[in-house]
Amino acid sequence: MASRKSKRIGILTAGGDSPGLNAAIRAVGKTAIGHHDMELIGFRDGITGLVANRHVPLDGRALSGILTIGGTILGTSRDKVHKMPVDDESVDMVPTVARQYEEEGLDGLILIGGGGTAKNAMRLADAGMNVLMLPKTIDNDIAGTDTSFGFATATEIATEAIDRVHSTAHSHHRIILTEVMGHNAGWLTLAAGIAGGADVILIPEIPYTVEKVAEMITARMDRGSSFSVVAVAEGARDVHDTADYEAARLLVKAAKTPEGSRAAKAHLAHVEDTQREHSFRLARALESATGLESRVTILGYVQRGGTPCAADRLLATRIGAVAADLAAAGEYGYMVAARGEGTEPVPLAEVAGKVKLVPTDHDWVTAARKVGTSLGD
Ligand code: F6P
Repeated sequence: MASRKSKRIGILTAGGDSPGLNAAIRAVGKTAIGHHDMELIGFRDGITGLVANRHVPLDGRALSGILTIGGTILGTSRDKVHKMPVDDESVDMVPTVARQYEEEGLDGLILIGGGGTAKNAMRLADAGMNVLMLPKTIDNDIAGTDTSFGFATATEIATEAIDRVHSTAHSHHRIILTEVMGHNAGWLTLAAGIAGGADVILIPEIPYTVEKVAEMITARMDRGSSFSVVAVAEGARDVHDTADYEAARLLVKAAKTPEGSRAAKAHLAHVEDTQREHSFRLARALESATGLESRVTILGYVQRGGTPCAADRLLATRIGAVAADLAAAGEYGYMVAARGEGTEPVPLAEVAGKVKLVPTDHDWVTAARKVGTSLGD
């Protein structure tokens, strides 16, 4: 009969997938099994599988050969544990998870995810479960950590795309707007825009005006460069849209009653809806302001797919190994943050519900301005 391992740990991946997830699962598993004699099980499809108690054993065989593979071998979802869809209703499944956690004889849970996962992790921890979190997202917007794995790979992919559109923009004398992911944070666009030498970089943290962007493009034309490359974040807005969006968000925050909150959320959704496809609107506006033909390239999910770069494999491996060490030591309630070349356990309460945006005086912003890039403001 197989001997009982010292501890039994569950792991899952949640939120949008991000290059390096498998490297992190592997690092947690190899350290847990090889160094701490622990047993590891993997929940399928993020919170969905945790709630349904769908799991698979993660032994040495399952962990072998996954370091370089994109996506997640466990699957993922964006569910919220306190608002699970059950028969057209939204149900708090935290008590169900807590019961299953006991029945399964789990000593701890490791959640790999981003901002939404931090909130799920906090809810599970508040219900008495031992929880650790590892930060992953291509958006680089998780509070409390220097960076997250997935960001470096996505930056490489977006940079290559911006590099590549230069030659076609130049050949056709066009403006090419390259739309980069990042949700409401501009890190990915800023990093790839700088590395790819975009002429204009537009991020959510710095509202732009069409006039300023057109000014930059026209100045380039005057210097003989009758083309421009604009790196635009999916969450970027001009000053007018920013004002409407911020006002709608304030209404949501200020709502005092359930009805008021529903109405404010519906208004916010409407505002967000009318602001969709902003890159196409901006392209049309720039075309009429400059006389240059404009095109839009939306990078989309290409940025999240495929092989993680070396930096993400390294980051995922080192923070994954630390998470297994913390679990072995019975230290829970933390996100394992990347801090310089090391790591730091940051209390989940300092991460959940927070977002790390680009400070408008950040070094990267300053450097972009210094090399003559327009931020559209
Ligand atoms: O959070 C990662 C991310 O790729 C964002 O950059 C993007 O806004 C979002 O996920 C897309 O979400 P989904 O995969 O649900 O379409």
